[in-house]
Amino acid sequence: MILFVLLIVALVFWTAQFRFRRRRLYELASRVPRSKHTLPVIGIAHKLSGNTEDILTYMKQFSYEAIKSDNGVMADWLNHLLYYVMVNPVDLEMVLRTCLEKDDVHRFMRQNLGNGVLFATVPFWRRRRKILLPAFKTKIIEGFTDILVEHSERITEKLGTVCESESVDLWPIVTAYSVDSVSDTMSGAKINAQMDPSSPFMACLEDSLNLVCERLFHLWLHPDWLFRFFPQYTKQKKCMQFIYGYTDEIIRKRRDDLKTEKQAESKTNNELDYKGKTFLDLLIHLSGGEKGYTDIELREEILSLNLAGADTIGISIGFSLILLAKYPDIQEKVYKEIEEIFGGSSRPLTREDLHKLYYLERVVKESLRLFPPAPFLLRKVETEITLPSGLIVPKGVGIVASIFGAHRDPKYWGPDAEHFDPDRFLPERYTLQHACSYMPFSNGPRNCVGSLYAMMSMKSAIATIIRNFKIIGEPEKGPIPSIRTKMIVTMNAIEGCCVKLEKRKLCSIKA
Ligand code: HEM
Repeated sequence: MILFVLLIVALVFWTAQFRFRRRRLYELASRVPRSKHTLPVIGIAHKLSGNTEDILTYMKQFSYEAIKSDNGVMADWLNHLLYYVMVNPVDLEMVLRTCLEKDDVHRFMRQNLGNGVLFATVPFWRRRRKILLPAFKTKIIEGFTDILVEHSERITEKLGTVCESESVDLWPIVTAYSVDSVSDTMSGAKINAQMDPSSPFMACLEDSLNLVCERLFHLWLHPDWLFRFFPQYTKQKKCMQFIYGYTDEIIRKRRDDLKTEKQAESKTNNELDYKGKTFLDLLIHLSGGEKGYTDIELREEILSLNLAGADTIGISIGFSLILLAKYPDIQEKVYKEIEEIFGGSSRPLTREDLHKLYYLERVVKESLRLFPPAPFLLRKVETEITLPSGLIVPKGVGIVASIFGAHRDPKYWGPDAEHFDPDRFLPERYTLQHACSYMPFSNGPRNCVGSLYAMMSMKSAIATIIRNFKIIGEPEKGPIPSIRTKMIVTMNAIEGCCVKLEKRKLCSIKA
């Protein structure tokens, strides 16, 4: 009995001390509006433990509530963790410029991918980003056009075998395209996911992303010591072992090849001829050659680049194609533009052609506005900040930068913010009032390094498909596209992109 009383007293004392230390957090949080779904103690935890569609629906709803609130912000608790969901672009700019550390939940990714630039903690990130940036110069990225076009043509070769009366889901096909093309340009690895969708690499990649997402939204899987007792831990370990083994072998082989090439060329200076080089070659060189990145550091970078690039590109192409199938008039305009560039020729797409696809670029931009693959970014507030709106954000808060919300805010996009209208990106109509009101690639020092690569890859794949096929789906009844979505680290379309195909007159598929 005495022991029990002592335990209760200790608990009360600990709680009082815990709350006293966090009194500033509670005081400032009480000034910010809350979701109506919040419950005592657990906050909104019950809303984030459902399926991946419900979780995303709730996050979207939260963003709409933030749009309607005075400062473009809503706050809520996830058990003892306090999060602010923000849509106000002026505040978001400051957050993304000053809060460079990612929120603690990123450690689940870090446990798998190490300190690759995408998830690295700030002390690691600074050096990694500095080394990486020169590899993303326009000249280098444009040098990858032929590889992107080659993989794009494989999509249409595959589609050429599909019967016109059959319905086909383009989503897994374009996902496989992005995995193949990103791996090829990153490290020269030929995953061949387009021809062999059941490849173990693809299966492991998909499983490991699903597992991270499951862990993210299920609080009992958060503590490392507890996670070890769940079957997900063993599965995750097995997946990662396969992915590490595969990547390490590529790195080892490439290091050997580079050594041999260097000896054969007997170069006296250390200049690297960028032509025909992969990102892996560039990273070895830019980090200082043999004295630069270790094999583990290279593995971390290559894996994080693969993840950053492949998942997002596949998703963006997928959403653009769904929209083109829903809006046949817009698809016809895309086709007309392609027809004008190629005339009657069946020649392959070139870098110059990609520059001329202005209308397609507007379609892709509008698709990224309504369906950004990374709709929510998570940052950690390490020291109290006062934002331009006057909002004071206390230390310890996690900020959810809602790109989804910023992209749909009528204050910045007008009353038709929900409409699919590619021409809102016409130069004469596009008056971006604030850099962060449109930021599918984020903003600030930790923004996406791969935006140019991504735009080229998306345009190459979509132009090659639409040049060869009319894609026929269920037309949307109004200007607001309705697509069911779910959250698996990134935003995905639940029903994929199921369409029928009709070969175009000038179909350029090789026999
Ligand atoms: C449509 C395609 C893409 C979209 C929408 C996209 C979006 C983003 C976003 C929103 C971030 C910020 C993430 C955060 O702060 O948590 C980011 C970061 C990043 N992205 Fe992309 N991305 C795309 C394609 C690519 C590609 C193709 C690459 C590389 C080839 C790439 C490499 C990176 C890297 C390395 C970072 C981390 C930058 C840093 O922390 O310094 N991305 N991307």
